[in-house]
Amino acid sequence: MADNVIIFDTTLRDGEQSPGCSMTTPEKLKVAEALVELGVDVIEAGFPITSPGDFEAVRAVAQKFGDRATICGLARCRKNDIERAGEALRGIARPRIHVFLATSPIHREFKLKMAEREIVKAAVEHVQFAKTFCDDIEFSPEDAARTELDFLTEVVEKAIEAGATTVNIPDTVGYATPNHYFKVISHLKQHVSNIHKAVISTHCHNDLGLAVANSLAAVEAGARQVECTINGLGERAGNAALEEIVMALKTRKDYYGVETRINTPKLCSASRLVSSITGMLVQRNKAIVGQNAFAHEAGIHQDGILKERTTYEIMRAEDVGYVGVNLVLGKHSGRAAIRSHVLQLGYQLDEAQIETVYKDFIALADKKKNIYDADIVALIENRMNVSMDRWKLVRFHISAGTGAIPTATVELQDELANSKLATDLNGGADEPAKTIIDASIGDGPVDAVCKAMERIIGVSAELKEYQVRAVSGGEDAQGEASVAIDYEGRRYHGKAVSTDVIEASALAYLKALNKAVSDQVVEKAPPGV
Ligand code: KIV
Ligand code: ZN
Repeated sequence: MADNVIIFDTTLRDGEQSPGCSMTTPEKLKVAEALVELGVDVIEAGFPITSPGDFEAVRAVAQKFGDRATICGLARCRKNDIERAGEALRGIARPRIHVFLATSPIHREFKLKMAEREIVKAAVEHVQFAKTFCDDIEFSPEDAARTELDFLTEVVEKAIEAGATTVNIPDTVGYATPNHYFKVISHLKQHVSNIHKAVISTHCHNDLGLAVANSLAAVEAGARQVECTINGLGERAGNAALEEIVMALKTRKDYYGVETRINTPKLCSASRLVSSITGMLVQRNKAIVGQNAFAHEAGIHQDGILKERTTYEIMRAEDVGYVGVNLVLGKHSGRAAIRSHVLQLGYQLDEAQIETVYKDFIALADKKKNIYDADIVALIENRMNVSMDRWKLVRFHISAGTGAIPTATVELQDELANSKLATDLNGGADEPAKTIIDASIGDGPVDAVCKAMERIIGVSAELKEYQVRAVSGGEDAQGEASVAIDYEGRRYHGKAVSTDVIEASALAYLKALNKAVSDQVVEKAPPGV
Protein backbone atom coordinates (compact mmCIF):
# COMPACT_ATOMS: atom_id res chain seq x y z
CA MET A 1 0.00 0.00 0.00
CA ALA A 2 1.22 3.50 -0.84
CA ASP A 3 2.18 5.90 1.93
CA ASN A 4 -0.20 8.73 2.63
CA VAL A 5 0.86 12.36 2.45
CA ILE A 6 -1.11 14.67 4.74
CA ILE A 7 -2.39 17.76 2.94
CA PHE A 8 -2.28 20.74 5.28
CA ASP A 9 -4.04 23.71 3.75
CA THR A 10 -3.10 27.17 4.95
CA THR A 11 -5.15 29.28 2.51
CA LEU A 12 -7.07 30.77 5.44
CA ARG A 13 -3.91 31.68 7.34
CA ASP A 14 -0.77 32.09 5.22
CA GLY A 15 -2.86 32.64 2.07
CA GLU A 16 -4.92 35.31 3.76
CA GLN A 17 -1.73 37.14 4.77
CA SER A 18 -1.32 37.97 1.09
CA PRO A 19 -1.86 41.74 0.60
CA GLY A 20 -5.47 42.56 -0.26
CA CYS A 21 -6.68 39.01 0.35
CA SER A 22 -8.36 39.43 3.74
CA MET A 23 -11.53 37.41 4.03
CA THR A 24 -14.57 37.95 6.22
CA THR A 25 -15.73 35.15 8.51
CA PRO A 26 -18.59 34.08 6.17
CA GLU A 27 -16.08 33.97 3.30
CA LYS A 28 -13.67 31.90 5.37
CA LEU A 29 -16.49 29.49 6.16
CA LYS A 30 -17.21 29.11 2.45
CA VAL A 31 -13.55 28.38 1.70
CA ALA A 32 -13.38 25.97 4.65
CA GLU A 33 -16.41 24.13 3.29
CA ALA A 34 -14.71 23.80 -0.10
CA LEU A 35 -11.55 22.51 1.61
CA VAL A 36 -13.54 19.91 3.51
CA GLU A 37 -15.26 18.81 0.30
CA LEU A 38 -11.86 18.63 -1.32
CA GLY A 39 -10.74 16.28 1.44
CA VAL A 40 -7.82 18.19 2.94
CA ASP A 41 -6.57 16.60 6.14
CA VAL A 42 -5.70 19.76 8.08
CA ILE A 43 -7.14 23.26 7.74
CA GLU A 44 -5.04 26.01 9.26
CA ALA A 45 -7.94 28.37 9.92
CA GLY A 46 -6.05 31.40 11.18
CA PHE A 47 -3.90 33.01 13.82
CA PRO A 48 -6.29 33.60 16.72
CA ILE A 49 -4.19 36.06 18.75
CA THR A 50 -3.93 38.57 15.91
CA SER A 51 -7.43 40.01 16.35
CA PRO A 52 -10.89 39.24 17.70
CA GLY A 53 -11.98 38.76 14.06
CA ASP A 54 -9.30 36.12 13.44
CA PHE A 55 -10.19 34.40 16.70
CA GLU A 56 -13.89 34.32 15.75
CA ALA A 57 -13.11 32.99 12.28
CA VAL A 58 -10.98 30.12 13.66
CA ARG A 59 -13.67 29.38 16.22
CA ALA A 60 -16.41 29.41 13.57
CA VAL A 61 -14.46 27.11 11.23
CA ALA A 62 -13.62 24.81 14.14
CA GLN A 63 -17.24 24.62 15.30
CA LYS A 64 -18.61 23.99 11.84
CA PHE A 65 -16.00 21.62 10.42
CA GLY A 66 -14.12 20.34 13.47
CA ASP A 67 -15.50 16.85 13.00
CA ARG A 68 -14.56 16.63 9.30
CA ALA A 69 -10.92 17.75 9.31
CA THR A 70 -8.20 18.61 11.79
CA ILE A 71 -8.52 22.34 12.47
CA CYS A 72 -5.34 24.16 13.32
CA GLY A 73 -4.64 27.54 14.92
CA LEU A 74 -1.26 29.27 14.72
CA ALA A 75 0.58 30.64 17.75
CA ARG A 76 3.96 32.24 18.42
CA CYS A 77 6.02 30.89 21.30
CA ARG A 78 4.01 33.01 23.74
CA LYS A 79 1.59 31.81 26.35
CA ASN A 80 -1.13 34.28 25.32
CA ASP A 81 -0.97 33.14 21.72
CA ILE A 82 -1.25 29.49 22.70
CA GLU A 83 -4.10 30.12 25.15
CA ARG A 84 -6.01 32.01 22.47
CA ALA A 85 -5.47 29.21 19.93
CA GLY A 86 -6.50 26.60 22.53
CA GLU A 87 -9.63 28.61 23.30
CA ALA A 88 -10.61 28.97 19.62
CA LEU A 89 -10.30 25.21 19.12
CA ARG A 90 -11.87 24.12 22.39
CA GLY A 91 -14.33 21.24 22.29
CA ILE A 92 -13.71 20.06 18.72
CA ALA A 93 -12.82 16.52 17.70
CA ARG A 94 -9.41 17.15 16.11
CA PRO A 95 -7.73 20.36 17.29
CA ARG A 96 -4.13 21.18 16.45
CA ILE A 97 -1.99 24.02 17.79
CA HIS A 98 0.84 25.13 15.54
CA VAL A 99 3.63 26.80 17.49
CA PHE A 100 6.48 28.55 15.71
CA LEU A 101 9.74 30.27 16.58
CA ALA A 102 12.45 31.48 14.21
CA THR A 103 15.77 29.65 14.35
CA SER A 104 17.96 31.11 11.58
CA PRO A 105 20.97 33.28 12.54
CA ILE A 106 19.45 36.31 10.80
CA HIS A 107 16.19 36.03 12.72
CA ARG A 108 17.96 35.22 16.01
CA GLU A 109 20.20 38.24 15.77
CA PHE A 110 17.98 40.91 14.23
CA LYS A 111 14.39 39.95 14.94
CA LEU A 112 14.37 37.99 18.18
CA LYS A 113 17.67 39.07 19.72
CA MET A 114 17.83 35.66 21.33
CA ALA A 115 20.75 33.27 21.71
CA GLU A 116 20.57 29.64 20.56
CA ARG A 117 20.04 28.36 24.12
CA GLU A 118 17.13 30.72 24.68
CA ILE A 119 15.52 29.59 21.44
CA VAL A 120 15.71 25.93 22.42
CA LYS A 121 14.36 26.69 25.89
CA ALA A 122 11.44 28.76 24.56
CA ALA A 123 10.55 26.13 21.95
CA VAL A 124 10.50 23.35 24.54
CA GLU A 125 8.52 25.34 27.11
CA HIS A 126 5.88 26.44 24.64
CA VAL A 127 5.42 23.06 23.00
CA GLN A 128 4.91 21.66 26.51
CA PHE A 129 2.45 24.44 27.30
CA ALA A 130 0.53 23.84 24.05
CA LYS A 131 0.38 20.17 24.97
CA THR A 132 -1.82 21.07 27.95
CA PHE A 133 -4.54 22.13 25.46
CA CYS A 134 -4.41 19.25 22.98
CA ASP A 135 -2.28 16.30 21.93
CA ASP A 136 -1.77 17.27 18.33
CA ILE A 137 1.03 19.86 18.35
CA GLU A 138 2.98 21.11 15.37
CA PHE A 139 6.25 22.94 15.83
CA SER A 140 7.87 25.12 13.14
CA PRO A 141 11.42 26.47 13.34
CA GLU A 142 10.69 29.51 11.21
CA ASP A 143 13.24 30.18 8.45
CA ALA A 144 14.48 26.61 8.86
CA ALA A 145 15.95 26.57 5.35
CA ARG A 146 18.48 29.24 6.42
CA THR A 147 19.23 27.66 9.81
CA GLU A 148 22.53 25.85 10.53
CA LEU A 149 21.83 22.11 10.15
CA ASP A 150 23.26 21.16 13.53
CA PHE A 151 21.18 23.74 15.36
CA LEU A 152 18.07 22.83 13.37
CA THR A 153 18.62 19.18 14.26
CA GLU A 154 18.85 20.04 17.94
CA VAL A 155 15.73 22.26 17.97
CA VAL A 156 13.66 19.67 16.12
CA GLU A 157 14.80 16.87 18.44
CA LYS A 158 13.99 18.91 21.55
CA ALA A 159 10.58 19.95 20.18
CA ILE A 160 9.67 16.30 19.58
CA GLU A 161 10.92 15.39 23.05
CA ALA A 162 8.63 18.14 24.42
CA GLY A 163 5.63 16.61 22.64
CA ALA A 164 5.50 17.93 19.06
CA THR A 165 3.75 15.38 16.87
CA THR A 166 4.52 17.21 13.60
CA VAL A 167 7.73 19.08 12.87
CA ASN A 168 7.36 21.53 10.05
CA ILE A 169 10.46 22.73 8.21
CA PRO A 170 9.55 26.08 6.67
CA ASP A 171 11.37 27.72 3.82
CA THR A 172 9.94 31.01 5.04
CA VAL A 173 11.63 33.24 2.49
CA GLY A 174 11.64 30.89 -0.50
CA TYR A 175 15.43 30.55 -0.42
CA ALA A 176 15.79 26.79 -0.82
CA THR A 177 16.36 24.88 -4.03
CA PRO A 178 15.11 21.31 -4.53
CA ASN A 179 18.41 19.52 -4.00
CA HIS A 180 19.31 21.68 -1.02
CA TYR A 181 15.91 21.14 0.60
CA PHE A 182 16.08 17.39 -0.08
CA LYS A 183 19.37 17.35 1.83
CA VAL A 184 17.92 19.32 4.77
CA ILE A 185 15.03 16.88 5.19
CA SER A 186 17.30 13.85 4.69
CA HIS A 187 19.71 15.23 7.29
CA LEU A 188 16.89 15.59 9.83
CA LYS A 189 15.68 12.06 9.09
CA GLN A 190 19.13 10.70 9.72
CA HIS A 191 20.24 12.82 12.67
CA VAL A 192 17.18 13.59 14.79
CA SER A 193 17.20 10.59 17.11
CA ASN A 194 13.43 10.64 17.84
CA ILE A 195 12.26 11.63 14.35
CA HIS A 196 10.14 8.45 14.10
CA LYS A 197 7.83 9.96 16.76
CA ALA A 198 6.75 12.86 14.54
CA VAL A 199 5.59 13.60 11.02
CA ILE A 200 8.00 15.71 8.99
CA SER A 201 6.22 18.54 7.22
CA THR A 202 7.23 20.95 4.47
CA HIS A 203 6.15 24.59 4.10
CA CYS A 204 7.64 26.32 1.08
CA HIS A 205 7.32 29.87 -0.18
CA ASN A 206 7.63 30.65 -3.85
CA ASP A 207 10.06 33.58 -4.05
CA LEU A 208 12.25 31.75 -6.56
CA GLY A 209 9.31 29.95 -8.18
CA LEU A 210 10.45 26.70 -6.53
CA ALA A 211 7.84 26.14 -3.81
CA VAL A 212 6.22 23.13 -5.47
CA ALA A 213 9.54 21.63 -6.61
CA ASN A 214 10.96 22.03 -3.10
CA SER A 215 7.88 20.47 -1.50
CA LEU A 216 8.14 17.48 -3.83
CA ALA A 217 11.84 17.12 -3.05
CA ALA A 218 10.91 17.08 0.65
CA VAL A 219 8.37 14.32 0.05
CA GLU A 220 11.04 12.36 -1.78
CA ALA A 221 13.30 12.77 1.25
CA GLY A 222 10.59 11.49 3.60
CA ALA A 223 8.31 14.41 4.52
CA ARG A 224 4.75 13.16 4.94
CA GLN A 225 2.88 16.42 5.35
CA VAL A 226 2.81 19.20 2.76
CA GLU A 227 1.64 22.70 3.67
CA CYS A 228 0.13 24.52 0.75
CA THR A 229 -2.60 26.89 -0.40
CA ILE A 230 -5.23 26.95 -3.12
CA ASN A 231 -3.85 28.72 -6.22
CA GLY A 232 -0.54 29.13 -4.36
CA LEU A 233 -2.02 32.13 -2.54
CA GLY A 234 0.28 33.66 0.04
CA GLU A 235 2.56 36.52 0.97
CA ARG A 236 4.90 37.88 -1.72
CA ALA A 237 5.16 35.20 -4.43
CA GLY A 238 2.90 32.90 -2.43
CA ASN A 239 3.04 29.39 -0.99
CA ALA A 240 3.27 26.02 -2.73
CA ALA A 241 0.09 25.48 -4.77
CA LEU A 242 -2.07 22.69 -3.37
CA GLU A 243 -3.45 21.69 -6.78
CA GLU A 244 0.04 21.33 -8.27
CA ILE A 245 1.40 19.26 -5.39
CA VAL A 246 -1.62 16.97 -5.36
CA MET A 247 -1.65 16.40 -9.11
CA ALA A 248 2.12 15.90 -9.26
CA LEU A 249 1.87 13.20 -6.58
CA LYS A 250 -1.12 11.61 -8.31
CA THR A 251 0.23 11.78 -11.86
CA ARG A 252 3.69 10.61 -10.82
CA LYS A 253 2.64 8.01 -8.31
CA ASP A 254 4.92 5.67 -10.23
CA TYR A 255 7.84 7.79 -9.01
CA TYR A 256 6.83 9.11 -5.57
CA GLY A 257 4.82 6.07 -4.47
CA VAL A 258 2.59 8.17 -2.22
CA GLU A 259 -1.07 9.13 -2.16
CA THR A 260 -3.22 11.95 -0.84
CA ARG A 261 -6.89 11.90 0.17
CA ILE A 262 -7.77 14.79 -2.11
CA ASN A 263 -10.93 14.51 -4.15
CA THR A 264 -9.22 15.93 -7.24
CA PRO A 265 -12.33 16.67 -9.37
CA LYS A 266 -13.06 19.42 -6.83
CA LEU A 267 -9.77 21.22 -7.47
CA CYS A 268 -10.98 23.67 -10.12
CA SER A 269 -14.10 24.70 -8.22
CA ALA A 270 -12.04 25.31 -5.05
CA SER A 271 -9.64 27.38 -7.14
CA ARG A 272 -12.47 29.46 -8.62
CA LEU A 273 -14.00 30.02 -5.20
CA VAL A 274 -10.77 31.28 -3.67
CA SER A 275 -10.09 33.46 -6.68
CA SER A 276 -13.54 34.99 -6.61
CA ILE A 277 -13.47 35.65 -2.86
CA THR A 278 -9.97 37.12 -2.74
CA GLY A 279 -10.09 38.79 -6.15
CA MET A 280 -6.72 37.20 -6.93
CA LEU A 281 -7.10 36.16 -10.55
CA VAL A 282 -5.64 32.85 -11.74
CA GLN A 283 -3.30 33.27 -14.69
CA ARG A 284 -4.59 31.61 -17.85
CA ASN A 285 -1.64 29.27 -18.22
CA LYS A 286 -1.48 28.33 -14.53
CA ALA A 287 -0.84 24.60 -14.13
CA ILE A 288 -3.89 22.45 -13.31
CA VAL A 289 -6.50 25.18 -12.78
CA GLY A 290 -5.68 27.83 -15.41
CA GLN A 291 -8.13 28.41 -18.24
CA ASN A 292 -5.62 27.12 -20.79
CA ALA A 293 -4.37 24.19 -18.72
CA PHE A 294 -6.08 21.68 -20.99
CA ALA A 295 -6.50 23.71 -24.17
CA HIS A 296 -4.62 22.43 -27.21
CA GLU A 297 -4.09 24.97 -29.96
CA ALA A 298 -1.38 23.48 -32.18
CA GLY A 299 -2.76 21.33 -34.99
CA ILE A 300 -0.17 18.63 -34.44
CA HIS A 301 -1.23 18.34 -30.78
CA GLN A 302 -4.94 18.30 -31.63
CA ASP A 303 -4.30 15.59 -34.19
CA GLY A 304 -2.34 13.54 -31.66
CA ILE A 305 -5.03 13.98 -28.98
CA LEU A 306 -7.74 12.83 -31.36
CA LYS A 307 -5.74 9.70 -32.16
CA GLU A 308 -4.78 8.96 -28.57
CA ARG A 309 -5.39 11.36 -25.66
CA THR A 310 -2.22 10.40 -23.80
CA THR A 311 0.01 11.57 -26.67
CA TYR A 312 -0.16 15.12 -25.33
CA GLU A 313 -2.15 14.90 -22.09
CA ILE A 314 -0.72 13.57 -18.85
CA MET A 315 -3.88 14.23 -16.83
CA ARG A 316 -7.56 14.04 -17.67
CA ALA A 317 -9.40 17.35 -17.50
CA GLU A 318 -12.27 15.71 -15.62
CA ASP A 319 -9.86 14.51 -12.90
CA VAL A 320 -9.31 18.11 -11.82
CA GLY A 321 -12.84 19.34 -12.55
CA TYR A 322 -11.60 21.51 -15.40
CA VAL A 323 -14.28 23.52 -17.15
CA GLY A 324 -13.55 24.06 -20.80
CA VAL A 325 -15.60 26.02 -23.26
CA ASN A 326 -17.94 23.14 -24.03
CA LEU A 327 -21.18 24.16 -25.57
CA VAL A 328 -23.52 22.76 -22.99
CA LEU A 329 -27.02 24.07 -22.82
CA GLY A 330 -29.64 25.70 -24.94
CA LYS A 331 -32.70 27.79 -24.27
CA HIS A 332 -34.85 24.71 -23.89
CA SER A 333 -32.72 22.93 -21.32
CA GLY A 334 -34.79 22.34 -18.21
CA ARG A 335 -34.10 22.56 -14.50
CA ALA A 336 -32.88 18.95 -14.39
CA ALA A 337 -30.18 19.69 -16.97
CA ILE A 338 -29.08 22.77 -15.02
CA ARG A 339 -29.08 20.82 -11.75
CA SER A 340 -26.92 18.06 -13.17
CA HIS A 341 -24.53 20.55 -14.78
CA VAL A 342 -24.14 22.52 -11.57
CA LEU A 343 -23.23 19.28 -9.80
CA GLN A 344 -20.77 18.27 -12.52
CA LEU A 345 -19.11 21.65 -12.17
CA GLY A 346 -18.48 20.88 -8.50
CA TYR A 347 -21.05 23.14 -6.83
CA GLN A 348 -23.39 21.99 -4.07
CA LEU A 349 -26.47 24.19 -4.32
CA ASP A 350 -29.81 23.82 -2.59
CA GLU A 351 -33.09 23.87 -4.52
CA ALA A 352 -33.65 27.60 -4.00
CA GLN A 353 -30.18 28.36 -5.36
CA ILE A 354 -30.72 26.03 -8.35
CA GLU A 355 -33.94 27.90 -9.07
CA THR A 356 -32.07 31.23 -9.03
CA VAL A 357 -29.38 29.90 -11.36
CA TYR A 358 -32.09 28.48 -13.63
CA LYS A 359 -33.86 31.86 -13.83
CA ASP A 360 -30.57 33.63 -14.55
CA PHE A 361 -29.85 31.01 -17.20
CA ILE A 362 -33.21 31.59 -18.92
CA ALA A 363 -32.60 35.34 -18.87
CA LEU A 364 -29.14 34.80 -20.31
CA ALA A 365 -30.44 32.45 -23.00
CA ASP A 366 -32.66 35.28 -24.23
CA LYS A 367 -29.61 37.46 -24.78
CA LYS A 368 -27.07 34.88 -25.88
CA LYS A 369 -27.34 32.01 -28.34
CA ASN A 370 -24.61 29.70 -27.09
CA ILE A 371 -24.24 28.98 -23.40
CA TYR A 372 -21.04 27.36 -22.20
CA ASP A 373 -19.90 25.72 -18.95
CA ALA A 374 -17.96 28.88 -18.23
CA ASP A 375 -21.21 30.89 -18.46
CA ILE A 376 -22.89 28.63 -15.91
CA VAL A 377 -19.91 29.00 -13.57
CA ALA A 378 -20.12 32.78 -13.99
CA LEU A 379 -23.86 32.78 -13.20
CA ILE A 380 -23.29 30.77 -10.03
CA GLU A 381 -20.40 32.94 -8.90
CA ASN A 382 -22.33 36.10 -9.70
CA ARG A 383 -24.86 35.09 -7.08
CA MET A 384 -22.31 33.99 -4.50
CA ASN A 385 -22.57 35.95 -1.26
CA VAL A 386 -25.01 38.50 -2.75
CA SER A 387 -27.69 37.48 -0.27
CA MET A 388 -25.38 38.88 2.42
CA ASP A 389 -24.98 42.22 0.61
CA ARG A 390 -26.63 45.25 2.11
CA TRP A 391 -26.94 47.25 -1.12
CA LYS A 392 -28.55 45.81 -4.25
CA LEU A 393 -28.56 47.34 -7.72
CA VAL A 394 -32.12 47.90 -8.90
CA ARG A 395 -31.33 49.69 -12.18
CA PHE A 396 -29.09 52.26 -13.77
CA HIS A 397 -29.06 54.48 -16.79
CA ILE A 398 -26.04 56.04 -18.45
CA SER A 399 -25.52 58.66 -21.02
CA ALA A 400 -22.12 58.85 -22.68
CA GLY A 401 -20.56 59.39 -26.08
CA THR A 402 -18.08 61.52 -27.98
CA GLY A 403 -18.37 65.10 -26.76
CA ALA A 404 -20.92 64.18 -24.06
CA ILE A 405 -20.33 64.38 -20.31
CA PRO A 406 -20.62 60.80 -19.02
CA THR A 407 -23.56 60.77 -16.63
CA ALA A 408 -25.19 57.97 -14.66
CA THR A 409 -28.43 57.67 -12.73
CA VAL A 410 -28.54 54.75 -10.31
CA GLU A 411 -31.20 53.20 -8.09
CA LEU A 412 -30.06 51.05 -5.16
CA GLN A 413 -32.07 49.12 -2.62
CA ASP A 414 -30.96 49.18 1.02
CA GLU A 415 -31.67 45.70 2.40
CA LEU A 416 -30.81 46.75 5.94
CA ALA A 417 -33.28 49.66 5.93
CA ASN A 418 -35.90 47.39 4.40
CA SER A 419 -35.51 44.67 6.98
CA LYS A 420 -35.71 47.29 9.79
CA LEU A 421 -38.82 48.76 8.18
CA ALA A 422 -40.40 45.31 7.99
CA THR A 423 -39.61 44.68 11.68
CA ASP A 424 -40.92 48.11 12.77
CA LEU A 425 -44.12 47.48 10.88
CA ASN A 426 -44.43 44.18 12.66
CA GLY A 427 -43.69 42.05 9.65
CA GLY A 428 -45.18 44.42 7.10
CA ALA A 429 -43.89 42.38 4.18
CA ASP A 430 -46.31 44.09 1.81
CA GLU A 431 -44.55 47.45 2.16
CA PRO A 432 -42.79 48.41 -1.09
CA ALA A 433 -39.00 48.02 -0.81
CA LYS A 434 -37.26 51.30 -0.04
CA THR A 435 -34.86 52.44 -2.74
CA ILE A 436 -32.61 55.45 -3.22
CA ILE A 437 -31.87 57.18 -6.51
CA ASP A 438 -28.96 59.50 -7.23
CA ALA A 439 -26.88 60.64 -10.19
CA SER A 440 -23.32 61.59 -10.93
CA ILE A 441 -21.01 62.56 -13.73
CA GLY A 442 -17.67 60.80 -14.17
CA ASP A 443 -14.56 60.39 -16.33
CA GLY A 444 -16.42 57.72 -18.27
CA PRO A 445 -19.68 55.78 -17.95
CA VAL A 446 -18.24 53.21 -15.51
CA ASP A 447 -16.76 55.94 -13.33
CA ALA A 448 -20.08 57.82 -13.36
CA VAL A 449 -22.03 54.72 -12.23
CA CYS A 450 -19.51 54.00 -9.46
CA LYS A 451 -19.62 57.60 -8.22
CA ALA A 452 -23.44 57.60 -8.21
CA MET A 453 -23.42 54.41 -6.11
CA GLU A 454 -20.92 55.97 -3.71
CA ARG A 455 -23.17 59.03 -3.31
CA ILE A 456 -26.10 56.79 -2.38
CA ILE A 457 -24.11 54.68 0.09
CA GLY A 458 -22.27 57.70 1.47
CA VAL A 459 -18.73 56.43 1.03
CA SER A 460 -15.80 57.32 -1.16
CA ALA A 461 -13.44 54.55 -2.23
CA GLU A 462 -10.46 54.53 -4.54
CA LEU A 463 -10.48 52.20 -7.54
CA LYS A 464 -7.12 50.41 -7.59
CA GLU A 465 -7.59 47.61 -10.13
CA TYR A 466 -10.10 47.14 -12.89
CA GLN A 467 -10.21 44.37 -15.48
CA VAL A 468 -12.81 43.10 -17.90
CA ARG A 469 -12.53 39.79 -19.73
CA ALA A 470 -14.79 37.66 -21.88
CA VAL A 471 -16.03 34.59 -20.02
CA SER A 472 -16.24 32.49 -23.21
CA GLY A 473 -15.69 33.01 -26.93
CA GLY A 474 -18.07 34.65 -29.38
CA GLU A 475 -19.36 38.17 -29.93
CA ASP A 476 -22.17 37.70 -27.43
CA ALA A 477 -19.83 36.46 -24.67
CA GLN A 478 -20.55 37.60 -21.12
CA GLY A 479 -18.09 40.11 -19.71
CA GLU A 480 -16.56 39.50 -16.31
CA ALA A 481 -15.46 42.60 -14.42
CA SER A 482 -13.02 42.40 -11.47
CA VAL A 483 -12.27 45.40 -9.32
CA ALA A 484 -10.11 46.15 -6.30
CA ILE A 485 -10.89 49.24 -4.25
CA ASP A 486 -9.18 50.84 -1.29
CA TYR A 487 -11.38 52.07 1.53
CA GLU A 488 -10.15 53.26 4.92
CA GLY A 489 -6.75 51.65 4.47
CA ARG A 490 -8.06 48.25 3.36
CA ARG A 491 -8.42 46.60 0.01
CA TYR A 492 -11.66 44.96 -1.11
CA HIS A 493 -12.36 42.92 -4.23
CA GLY A 494 -15.49 42.43 -6.29
CA LYS A 495 -16.25 40.37 -9.36
CA ALA A 496 -19.42 40.12 -11.48
CA VAL A 497 -20.58 39.08 -14.93
CA SER A 498 -23.17 40.33 -17.35
CA THR A 499 -23.67 40.49 -21.08
CA ASP A 500 -23.39 44.26 -20.54
CA VAL A 501 -19.88 45.16 -19.39
CA ILE A 502 -21.00 48.40 -17.74
CA GLU A 503 -23.52 46.45 -15.67
CA ALA A 504 -20.82 43.86 -14.83
CA SER A 505 -18.52 46.69 -13.74
CA ALA A 506 -21.24 48.34 -11.65
CA LEU A 507 -22.10 45.04 -9.95
CA ALA A 508 -18.43 44.25 -9.27
CA TYR A 509 -17.88 47.71 -7.78
CA LEU A 510 -21.02 47.38 -5.68
CA LYS A 511 -19.84 43.99 -4.38
CA ALA A 512 -16.58 45.55 -3.26
CA LEU A 513 -18.42 48.50 -1.66
CA ASN A 514 -20.74 46.07 0.16
CA LYS A 515 -17.72 44.28 1.59
CA ALA A 516 -16.18 47.58 2.64
CA VAL A 517 -19.27 48.83 4.47
CA SER A 518 -19.96 45.56 6.25
CA ASP A 519 -16.31 44.92 6.99
CA GLN A 520 -15.81 42.13 9.47
CA VAL A 521 -12.10 41.70 8.99
CA VAL A 522 -9.94 43.35 11.57
CA GLU A 523 -6.26 44.00 12.13
CA LYS A 524 -3.90 41.39 10.74
CA ALA A 525 -0.85 39.57 12.02
CA PRO A 526 1.27 41.16 14.70
CA PRO A 527 4.78 42.28 13.71
CA GLY A 528 7.35 39.58 13.24
CA VAL A 529 5.25 37.00 11.41
O1 KIV B 1 6.55 30.75 6.34
C1 KIV B 1 6.60 30.43 7.53
O2 KIV B 1 7.66 30.21 8.12
C2 KIV B 1 5.34 30.33 8.25
C3 KIV B 1 5.40 29.73 9.61
C4 KIV B 1 4.49 30.41 10.55
C5 KIV B 1 5.16 28.26 9.52
O3 KIV B 1 4.30 30.62 7.70
ZN1 ZN C 1 4.57 30.70 5.50
